[in-house]
Amino acid sequence: MARGGGNRQVRYVRRPVGRLEESSFAIEDAPMPSPAEGEVLVRTLFLSVDPYMRRQMLGTKGYAVPLREGDVMQGRGIAEVVESRHPARRVGEVVFGEIGWRLYAALPGEALRPVDRSVRPLSLHLGLLGAPGLTAWVGLTDHGRPQPGETVVVSAAAGAVGSLVGQIARLRGCRAIGIAGGAEKCAHVVRDLGFDACLDHRAEGLEEALRHAAPGGVQVYFDNVGGAVLDAVLPNLAMGARIALCGMIAHYNATGPIAFRHLQSLLDNCVTLAGFRIGFVAPERRAAAAAELLDWFRAGRLRWRETVSDGLETAPAALVGLFDGANIGKRIVRVAPAGG
Ligand SMILES: NC(=O)c1ccc[n+]([C@@H]2O[C@H](COP(=O)([O-])OP(=O)(O)OC[C@H]3O[C@@H](n4cnc5c(N)ncnc54)[C@H](OP(=O)(O)O)[C@@H]3O)[C@@H](O)[C@H]2O)c1
Repeated sequence: MARGGGNRQVRYVRRPVGRLEESSFAIEDAPMPSPAEGEVLVRTLFLSVDPYMRRQMLGTKGYAVPLREGDVMQGRGIAEVVESRHPARRVGEVVFGEIGWRLYAALPGEALRPVDRSVRPLSLHLGLLGAPGLTAWVGLTDHGRPQPGETVVVSAAAGAVGSLVGQIARLRGCRAIGIAGGAEKCAHVVRDLGFDACLDHRAEGLEEALRHAAPGGVQVYFDNVGGAVLDAVLPNLAMGARIALCGMIAHYNATGPIAFRHLQSLLDNCVTLAGFRIGFVAPERRAAAAAELLDWFRAGRLRWRETVSDGLETAPAALVGLFDGANIGKRIVRVAPAGG
């Protein structure tokens, strides 16, 4: 049910062909929803902006819930309960869930998980302690299986997942090499995040540059990108290397197949390649990841950065920007100020 105005939302209106553009979205006023029995009314505080959203726009099953044209844009967020008709949800609670791109939403109480309000900023629940953080920890620990002294390479190294992968690799006694777009990001990765080296994938000769940076070969490759970056890493893999295949963002806007020249390296070097999705990881592993990440962060052993824009209206550009490399660290939209 709805009651009067005061709400605002972003609707997904046009399926992109190739590069995602802001014209795929419309921003509009909307009625204020009224919670039914078992529901709560929430006010959105923060929205998470993530690469997988582009894949939802393919309209096919296989990766997250597909979006249909006309839908309110889906997306995870942090919100405050302002009215409750659910026995377990209290007014003033801060919750995590599939909030959607809107100022207010009426949602089933059991679909929302209360979060620890003492963790500040609250957006950490979408990044360091959300899907990106858990993905970095689980992917590296369980699929990369790094041993002290080994060389770990990670792509999109200045981003949410990648920035953590290299730092965790260092904490586990490995040598961490990042791959990122441009000199500024590479400087950040080495200077601020403490990686041993960072290579610019926008410059010529990535394959050769990696050969120089890792003369003994790469034991672990954590891939966030696929495409030409993966192809440049393949001939640099060491015997027995592991690839944690986390994401393939270079493919998400593509209109046709992307070819690989060096796949034979997987055979020649007895490489283990494991794709994984954080949504399918056992709750115990996710809990172990969150606990260790928070410990490291509170002890000052992990650096975490966010690119934050203010206002619901900034969400479409924020998402488009992920594919241009416009973000450093986790991309967040601050929709409303969080109270005490
Ligand atoms: N498996 C899972 O469960 C799971 C969970 C979360 C995320 N992921 C995946 O992990 C990856 C990183 O996600 P994130 O949230 O941490 O995003 P992010 O790295 O913070 O942002 C995306 C970055 O990707 C890079 N990029 C974009 N297009 C590229 C291209 N064509 N070639 C090379 N690099 C490109 C850009 O960095 P540069 O400026 O450095 O190029 C951009 O900043 C994504 O592929 C995502 O789908 C997977």
